[in-house]
Amino acid sequence: VRTRVAIVGAGPAGLILSQLLADAGIDSIVVDSRSREQIESTIRAGILEQNTADLLRAIDPDTRVDTVGHRHDGIELRFGDEGQRIDFPSLVGRSVWLYPQHEVLKDLLALRLGRGQDLRFGVTVDGVEGGESEHPVVFASDARGEHLRIEAEFLVGADGSRSVVRGAVSGSRADGYFREYPFAWFGILCEAPPSSEELIYSNSGQGFALISQRSPTVQRMYYQCDPSADAAAPSDAEIWDTLQARVPGTTLNEGPIIQRDVLRFRSFVAQELRRGRVALVGDAAHTVPPTGAKGMNLAIADVVLLADALRALLVTGDERLIDSYAERALDRIWKAQHFSWWMTSMLHVTPDASDFDRRRQRGELRTVASSEAGRTYLAEGYTGWPLATDS
Ligand code: DHB
Repeated sequence: VRTRVAIVGAGPAGLILSQLLADAGIDSIVVDSRSREQIESTIRAGILEQNTADLLRAIDPDTRVDTVGHRHDGIELRFGDEGQRIDFPSLVGRSVWLYPQHEVLKDLLALRLGRGQDLRFGVTVDGVEGGESEHPVVFASDARGEHLRIEAEFLVGADGSRSVVRGAVSGSRADGYFREYPFAWFGILCEAPPSSEELIYSNSGQGFALISQRSPTVQRMYYQCDPSADAAAPSDAEIWDTLQARVPGTTLNEGPIIQRDVLRFRSFVAQELRRGRVALVGDAAHTVPPTGAKGMNLAIADVVLLADALRALLVTGDERLIDSYAERALDRIWKAQHFSWWMTSMLHVTPDASDFDRRRQRGELRTVASSEAGRTYLAEGYTGWPLATDS
């Protein structure tokens, strides 16, 4: 088959890109190796920057970001027995929305399928060809083993951290800039009412914990653990003991734990984001550690830049924006890398931390919490810097 833009990956990045292209009259085909049910049920992040919420409202009249999602005007930074609320509107005039990624995906899939998008589930990409040619090709197979060849004018890898498309851009699937961390997050979903009106990011002597939410009856919580931890090992009672000990001053509402997982921590930026007529967006291009919830938001910021560039290239033949796509995307990517690394370093306890390290870290948390400049810095990064197209 032929299309103008082949998009690999029906996550938030791929689906939003297909919508922005359709708005400009550009056809695309989106393929994903997963089924629709898998995409809609995978538990991922929960926080949307103001930019992201605004974009969802602009492209989707039926988005539930304001009905199922909730505006959050702040977070609490907790360290030991001290706590400081970071009030976003008064500091930066922006907010964030708590709206789980799988709900975002339900909205986007309904939007795109409702508008006739060619969207194929259960299609695995076997290989891609021709970044340098005018017509890149995707070779894929569906669940029954039938081969599919998609020829396009441009190919986009929105296919996540294990991207297959990345190889056609970077030369190798692994080339890039990496950082590992000596910890991971143990995450749970539990059936209980919220324990706090806003999210709590807590640095305790025993390590980090994050008290997040999903809905009035389901909560999401995380605690720092060893990267080799086994999600099945601790009993529910042990999990609650760990969480309760890490948020002194708050009594968590406990309830049945309905899901548990261990999330890996990694910072990564691919060596290249574009070669010829192939480009990467989202986790295919970069990974951030989860602290600060930048992942999905950063993916969507890439897509906004790429959509502008593809409109210019494919509607008017102007190559300037696609030529500068990588440089412009990397500006935000490295800011988000820094923010995610900084939130992570400020809040987690490294296994080999000395007394000096711990006291210095407490000094850092006090500096941020007690200064309006410090709180503003955090609020700017957390609610999201304005998108390039805003200015
Ligand atoms: C969630 C995850 C994050 O990494 C974060 O910083 C805030 C919230 C969440 O899954 O709810």
